[in-house]
Amino acid sequence: TSPAVSATRSVLLTGGAGYIGSHTFVALREAGFEPVILDNFANSHPAVLERLGRITGRAPVIEQGDVLDTAFVEAVLRRHRPVGVIHFAGDKAVGESVAQPLKYFHNNIGGAVSLLRAMEEVCLGQGASGLPTLVFSSSATVYGDPATVPITEDFPRSHTNPYGHTKLVIEDMLQAVLLAQPAWRIGVLRYFNPVGAHPSGLIGEDPSGIPNNLMPYVTQVAVGLRPHLNVFGHDYPTPDGTGVRDYIHVQDLAAGHVAALQALLARPRSFTVNLGTGRGYSVLEVVRAFEQASGRPVPYQLVDRRAGDVAQCYADPSLARELLGWEARRSLQEMCADAWRWQSGNPRGYATA
Ligand code: WQD
Repeated sequence: TSPAVSATRSVLLTGGAGYIGSHTFVALREAGFEPVILDNFANSHPAVLERLGRITGRAPVIEQGDVLDTAFVEAVLRRHRPVGVIHFAGDKAVGESVAQPLKYFHNNIGGAVSLLRAMEEVCLGQGASGLPTLVFSSSATVYGDPATVPITEDFPRSHTNPYGHTKLVIEDMLQAVLLAQPAWRIGVLRYFNPVGAHPSGLIGEDPSGIPNNLMPYVTQVAVGLRPHLNVFGHDYPTPDGTGVRDYIHVQDLAAGHVAALQALLARPRSFTVNLGTGRGYSVLEVVRAFEQASGRPVPYQLVDRRAGDVAQCYADPSLARELLGWEARRSLQEMCADAWRWQSGNPRGYATA
């Protein structure tokens, strides 16, 4: 008889074809897990799958469908029997969420409810198979406009747009589930500002349309897709008047997800942690660092503030270090160099593929 195949530790990544999900996919494989991507490609490109195959040496396992389809999610959970689920799937454009709140409440909150119910049924229902273990992709946006910086996890939460509201509601839902069913193991990760790309330059951030976020806009200016950057506000109470944020390399963020999953599998303690570097950089500091890293000019114009922006937002990441043994290591220069390698090698993102 053939030797028993060691039970590979599969991990379900909803939205796993997206920016953070694809980088986490690579980190999980490198850590010996078998990640399974569940994605409807509404905001990601199938070309990423071939790239992931090239980076990791094997084609990814993909389940194409919508996290809102609870029966589909249940079938995927039964098929792969994952040791844990990482929930990335959701819409994330702040401006769009103001214009289309129902799309955000439906996709983000509805999607989370659907996933949680599928996990409850498969993991705690008849013929239960293991403990429901979930890592949730949350955001520093739940801190609203912080009274001071750096930010610790006990800071008050608020929302200033429907996107941030959905993250806050999902966090509250997860706490209610933990109260009702202590068998759950849940890690909530509050991302600060993810930037950069895998050093191979094969995967990276590929926003559709005009980028909302700073770094992809900067890289598109540098590669000649856009004439200049608009700097939103230069009269903030910050060292150079422009907004200060905690930029974290997506590779560090991916490592944070692996550490979070391993912590949940090692002990039944749930947690909520900041994933940031603890260091803030202004818009102009990012522009200068990017010009140095790429050797390309990034012309910009100082324009009015963007509605909803806060002056400063950066993390105190000590709880993640304490609980997960994780900390961000990559510098702003590496973030810029890796972002540039991805953009310059893929001028139109995955559409170039
Ligand atoms: C960063 C800084 C802008 C674009 C948001 C969400 C958060 C997460 C990350 C989803 C700010 C300035 C930006 C531009 C600029 N999103 N800027 N010109 O607003 O901190 O966070 O994106 O997961 O949840 O809230 O990130 O990259 O949009 O802005 O001057 O063209 O760059 O004013 O100071 P933000 P950002």
